[in-house]
Amino acid sequence: MSTIHDLATRALRLIDPETAHHFALLGLRAGLGPRARADKYPRLRTTLAGLDLPNPIGMAAGFDKNCEAPDALFAAGFGFVECGTVTPRAQAGNPKPRIFRLSEDRSVINRLGFNNKGLDGFVDCLSARAGKSGVLGANVGANKDSEDRAADYVLGMGRVWKCASYVTANISSPNTPGLRGLQERGALEDLLGRLREGRAQLEAAHGRRPLFLKVAPDLDETAVRDIAELALTYSLDALIVSNTTLQRPDHLTSDNREEAGGLSGQALFQISTHTLRLFAQALGGRLPLIGVGGVASGLNAFAKIKSGASAVQLYSALVYEGPGLVARILDDLDGLLAAEGFDSVAEAVGAELR
Ligand code: FNR
Repeated sequence: MSTIHDLATRALRLIDPETAHHFALLGLRAGLGPRARADKYPRLRTTLAGLDLPNPIGMAAGFDKNCEAPDALFAAGFGFVECGTVTPRAQAGNPKPRIFRLSEDRSVINRLGFNNKGLDGFVDCLSARAGKSGVLGANVGANKDSEDRAADYVLGMGRVWKCASYVTANISSPNTPGLRGLQERGALEDLLGRLREGRAQLEAAHGRRPLFLKVAPDLDETAVRDIAELALTYSLDALIVSNTTLQRPDHLTSDNREEAGGLSGQALFQISTHTLRLFAQALGGRLPLIGVGGVASGLNAFAKIKSGASAVQLYSALVYEGPGLVARILDDLDGLLAAEGFDSVAEAVGAELR
């Protein structure tokens, strides 16, 4: 049976994707979104880098770039919500159109380029909800025209620290020229060194917070090993694998498949899960992983967990399924864990690697 939310999702799919996204956020903020209990299933309760999650399904960064609707996303059942990417100064991003549906492929290409309202507004929103429950991460990035990108990350981390449950440094957007270069060994050492220094001061003043790094799926085994090793050396708390891909698998059929930008959704599932496994193998359980890319069902989420993810995030599937999807994933994931004899999410993490 179609719910009002399914109908709204279908209607939104008929209009330009960026306008649809705008209305989806407005609707959520107005309290029109679906409601599901995030803590309905005791088996799904878990921890991620010391954070207690009611379930392992998170909202990926990019949906709520300015931290305008986190509580509506918690109300829809998400176990954690990551807002951002926020850059120090507001930015318009690339010319429109810049989000494309690949409906036949259940995928999306975007080349937004970190459009956002900047740190001031983001921090106001974060502070306004201080004290409310829900694990809320702040995903920080660098301005396109910044002369010292590492400094932007340190600044962002410092501004959000007090009110965020965790901070993610996003160095893997393909839409800010050169940003992914920060994943290379030398640049990454510099960035992580400066983040570690900034973090030590913040911890002394305000207490500990987990710090995550979000990486691209387009990495070879050497790059994966380098990043894994540096993540451990510089005491990161988790890696988010992954952002969108620059690859264009041959099986894509939608007219929009040649658009420039990062590909997400179903076509990213295999690619990002492969990279997740490489990280899981390189890390051998020494650092938790968050699996992102093409998750649209309980089965997909379960596959990420068995490939080494302690938690999962999603975005593109919401474009096709609407926010009611979260409740269905929780229900299915609980059933799948039970059917395979797992009493908890933690027990299933990396089950296919062992
Ligand atoms: C994104 N993503 C993203 N990631 C990030 O760290 N910061 C961001 O600002 C954005 N912005 C963004 C916009 C749009 C329109 C999309 C579709 C995606 C990437 C997102 O968080 C996620 O890593 C990928 O989309 C893969 O997951 P899904 O979408 O396949 O579930």
